[in-house]
Amino acid sequence: MGLRDRLFREQFLNRQQEKEIISIVKNKIKKDSTLLSTEFMSRDDFEDRLFLMISDEIASKYPYIEYEINDNLIERTLCEIFGLGLLEQYLKDQEVTDIFIQNKEMVIIKNGKKEYLGEVFNSIDEVKLIVDRIKNSSGKTVDQRMPFLNTELYDGSRCSIVIPPVSDKIYICIRVFNCLDFELEDLIKLGMFDLRIFKVLKDFIKSKKNILIAGSMGSGKTTLLNTMAKLIPKNEFINIIQDVPEIKLHKYPYVRMLTTRPKSREVDNEINQDKLVFETLRMKADRIIVGEVRNYMAAYQMLSALNTGHRGSFSTIHADSAYDSLLRLEILALEYKPNISSQVIKKIISRAIDVVLFLECEKDKDFNVIKRKIKEVLLVDNDLDERGDYKLKYL
Ligand SMILES: Nc1ncnc2c1ncn2[C@@H]1O[C@H](COP(=O)(O)OP(=O)(O)OP(=O)(O)O)[C@@H](O)[C@H]1O
Ligand SMILES: [Mg+2]
Repeated sequence: MGLRDRLFREQFLNRQQEKEIISIVKNKIKKDSTLLSTEFMSRDDFEDRLFLMISDEIASKYPYIEYEINDNLIERTLCEIFGLGLLEQYLKDQEVTDIFIQNKEMVIIKNGKKEYLGEVFNSIDEVKLIVDRIKNSSGKTVDQRMPFLNTELYDGSRCSIVIPPVSDKIYICIRVFNCLDFELEDLIKLGMFDLRIFKVLKDFIKSKKNILIAGSMGSGKTTLLNTMAKLIPKNEFINIIQDVPEIKLHKYPYVRMLTTRPKSREVDNEINQDKLVFETLRMKADRIIVGEVRNYMAAYQMLSALNTGHRGSFSTIHADSAYDSLLRLEILALEYKPNISSQVIKKIISRAIDVVLFLECEKDKDFNVIKRKIKEVLLVDNDLDERGDYKLKYL
C-alpha cells in the first residue's frame, strides 16, 4: 500500500470495513458463545467485553488505522448479534421492500404486494424495546418532546418512527435497504429501462449532465440515483446531502457525506439541507448529490449551486411527471424568493438542470407495484425560448 493510501486510510474505517469487523466479531461469538455469556455479566461489562473484541479485530486487521470505537459501532454490533427481534427475517428478505409496524401489528410490502401479518408482537413492551434499540444505535432521541425519529438501521435501511401523543399508535416505517445495491445492468433486467436508455444514462454521467430524478413515493428514485452515481469517476470530490444516509458510494475515496440534523433534546440548532448545500460551496465539491429536494430554501440553494459550476450533480424530487418536477422547483424557488420574476426562476432552472428522469410504478388492478420504469427522459435546454419558456425535448 502506497504512502498516500496509508495517510488517507489512517483516520477512519469506512462503512464496509466496519461491517467486516462487525461480521467477524459476530461470527466468533456465534462459534463460541462463552465469549460473551450474558448470564453473569452486567450490560456495562458486556459492552466492555465487546469493545475489547472489536478493538482486537481492528488492531489485527487494520493495524495502520487509528480508530476510535464509538457507541454507535458497539450498538450496531449488538444489533447484529441480537438483532431487531421479529424484524430481522423481513430485513433480510430480498423480496421485502417496506415494513410497517403500528403498535403490535405488522404490514410488509413483498414483491410489490401489501401483506397484513396481524398482531405479531405479544405486547406493546416488545415494540417499545425495538424503538429503544433503534434509538440507542442511532444516538438520536425519540420521546414525548421529540416524538419523531428519522434514522438508518444498522443494515442501512431507512426508518421513521412516530410515537404518541402525536400519533394514536407507535408507528415504525422501514424502507428496507436490501435491494439498493444494484448495477445499471440489473435495472435493465428488472424492466426499469431498455438498452437504448441504458446507453443514454451512461452518456449523461460521462458528459456531466445535471440530473433530476422525479417520481412518486417509492418509485425507485433513490435506487436509480445510487446506481447511476456508481459510474462517477472515483477521483472526484462528491458531496452527498441527505436526511438519512441511504445513498452510499463505498469505494469512493473523496465522498463527503453530510446529513441533516433535526432539533432534539441534546441539540437545539437544527441543521437543514440548505445549510449543508451552502457549506458544500466552500468545500469545492466537484459534484453535489442532494438525496431529495424538499424545502424551498434547499431548492433555491441547490439551484444556485448548480448554476455555479457543479456539473454532473444529482437530485431527486417528488413529482407526477418530468415537466411537473420543473414546476415544483419553480414553486419552491418562488416561495423562497417571491420577488423574482417567474422568467428569471425558469432561467435559473434551465441552467441548473440538464435532464429529468421521471419514474413511474406500473401497478396491477389491486394497486400492487409490478414494475418501476423510467417513463420520461426530458432534456432541458440551457436557454429559454423567445417567449421565456423552457426548450424541452423528450427522448
Ligand atoms: N427497479 C426496481 N425493481 C425492483 N425493486 C426496486 C427497483 N427500484 C427500487 N426498488 C425497490 O423499491 C423500494 C423503493 O425504492 P427507493 O427507495 O429507491 O424509492 P424512492 O422513490 O426513492 O422512495 P421515496 O420516495 O420513499 O424516497 C426499495 O426497497 C427498492 O429496493
Ligand atoms: Mg428516496
